[in-house]
Amino acid sequence: MTAPTATVLLKLRPNIALPGDLWLARHELELLLGCAVEPVPDLAALASEIPSLAVWQGPASPAAQPRPIAPQGFRVVAPLPALVALARRATFVQDVYAVAPDTSAHAALVRQAADRLGPTLAWKRLPGELAVHLVTHQALCEVSDWAVRHATGPADTVALLGQILSAWMDQNPDPHAQRLAAQALAARSASSYLSHDVHNYKAKFFPRLARALINICAAGDDDHPPRVLDPFCGSGTTLLEASAVGMDAQGVDVDPLSVLISQAKLAALQLDGDLLAQEAHRALERLQGAGASSTALDTAAGPSRAAPASPSGRAPAGPSDPELAGPPLRFPPWLLKNRKMSAYLVDSLTREIRHARATVAGCDPHVRPLFHTLLSDAVSRRVRLRFLGTGVGRFSLTFSRASVGEMLSRSVQRYANVVAAGGWLRQTLNMAWGSATAARGDARCLPHPAGQFDILVTSPPYLPAASGRESYARARALSLIALGMAAAEDVDDLAGSSIGAMDPSDVDLGQLTPAEGRLVSWLAQDPLRQPKAGPTARYFLEMRRALAEMHRVLAPGGRCALVSGRQSTFYRFSTRQVLQVAHSAEYLAEESLRAGFDIRATHDLQLAKGNLNARPRSLDDYYETIIIMVKPG
Ligand SMILES: C[S@@+](CC[C@H](N)C(=O)[O-])C[C@H]1O[C@@H](n2cnc3c(N)ncnc32)[C@H](O)[C@@H]1O
Repeated sequence: MTAPTATVLLKLRPNIALPGDLWLARHELELLLGCAVEPVPDLAALASEIPSLAVWQGPASPAAQPRPIAPQGFRVVAPLPALVALARRATFVQDVYAVAPDTSAHAALVRQAADRLGPTLAWKRLPGELAVHLVTHQALCEVSDWAVRHATGPADTVALLGQILSAWMDQNPDPHAQRLAAQALAARSASSYLSHDVHNYKAKFFPRLARALINICAAGDDDHPPRVLDPFCGSGTTLLEASAVGMDAQGVDVDPLSVLISQAKLAALQLDGDLLAQEAHRALERLQGAGASSTALDTAAGPSRAAPASPSGRAPAGPSDPELAGPPLRFPPWLLKNRKMSAYLVDSLTREIRHARATVAGCDPHVRPLFHTLLSDAVSRRVRLRFLGTGVGRFSLTFSRASVGEMLSRSVQRYANVVAAGGWLRQTLNMAWGSATAARGDARCLPHPAGQFDILVTSPPYLPAASGRESYARARALSLIALGMAAAEDVDDLAGSSIGAMDPSDVDLGQLTPAEGRLVSWLAQDPLRQPKAGPTARYFLEMRRALAEMHRVLAPGGRCALVSGRQSTFYRFSTRQVLQVAHSAEYLAEESLRAGFDIRATHDLQLAKGNLNARPRSLDDYYETIIIMVKPG
């Protein structure tokens, strides 16, 4: 027997700017619903066609703050029970409106959905019709980020969230609450909600992309929640998104800092809010009490007006604290060689880092991974290290005006709000988080038995031939050293263990595919790019091993979404003449077929011009390619 259906209107988030996201949105919805959806160019026009939609007013109205460009939503006739999965899983939809005939079967299903979705579903009985409005979990999570950033503390975060949701559900006519909801819904950022921004991380997934890919890979697998693996988990975006939709997930990364970041990202939302508030208070007292800002600098050359230099030219002495005398900090020689690393700066950085380290060392063990991660984040923003060009290890350094202590203080304060928002969301959405873990490991020899996972969603390191991609570990050297995770001389070994590292040792070129061989030969004959030829050949063979492992640990019939830069273009620097194009995603697709995968779809996603993380120093449009594949069953 088919389930009772409803006319359903899916209103998109207004902050969807890119055509690629729209493609993902539609693809995801069609897979979640099992049928085609029809684009709606203008929500206001549609609302006038379906008069019962007018029962939703203010921020709850279908026409309120729509996506500025068409389409503004999708329309479909769908079975009523699908509303619950839509609310919990959909990535790009903000509000769902359903209109159904008022029969006992329809009303029973609406009541069931209301029981399961709690305060995020409202419904009204109209003459002969039922009108339902619900907000998606994803939209509420994204909107919670606005509350976190505008709240004065954890209690205020929760109060703001309550006001926003009640106005959004058309249950709070207070103009102040309506204004808050309108502001929160207009917020543009969609990348920093929950604990996604616990650490600044180059090359991380957009969280929405990870979530949409999880949904796309999981479609049709309704009997048991799929088990998810990200073998290159980086900062843990896939793991958090899988966990948020109730799936168990495991992540592996060769880099210990990435593993810590993933673990902190996952643990933050399970922390006890009172404990964190208490520990945050203590940490702030210590940071501020010791005048964390008094050592702030604005340039590498010397002190700012806020930080007068002592006559010796050394950084001003801070208050005495025995823990500041802890283990000495040693920076790697290649970093110290940079002319910007003046004695004054090295001295100040050392003091800032040791003081921040002493502050977090005394905290409760439950909050320590989070505080360590926030400390590492502060260090990475204090000194930004960006590798340039051609693989000979050149890098640029820039420094923040704020000190490590100041940035750590701000993050600790904000995380008290993030954790409060996480607790509120868990309760309000009745969220059953899947268990998620991250561990150190190597994608070339995964520690899991064959067939353990149903879904793989991942983004492997990009081709080392591409500009600036060659050293993840070196770029994080200061954080690794600040946290005591690596000594100065170990950073290069860590960098070498990463796929795509600039490892000059020989590889058997005979094993490369013809296309890979052609790129490696071209790099080898170009005097400027020659240092990248060997590492590029090694990259191809290491990705071959990793793909074979990914195929092994996936269950037959399991799906894998791989995200890679689409291509790298090599120019003559003086004239910008194109010399060579390396089709990175095509190499990976070919290696995937070789590993035994069937490719179901590839799709190019254009990224925003302003996303300098993904496209450092590039003048071109930047595309990523999604490869969706399946392990034949
Ligand atoms: C493009 S990043 C992944 C970013 C991730 N999707 C996120 O959202 O943060 C690639 C990751 O692969 C990791 N990696 C490199 N070689 C590896 C290996 N042999 N095994 C496991 N991870 C590796 C790097 O440390 C890096 O964190």
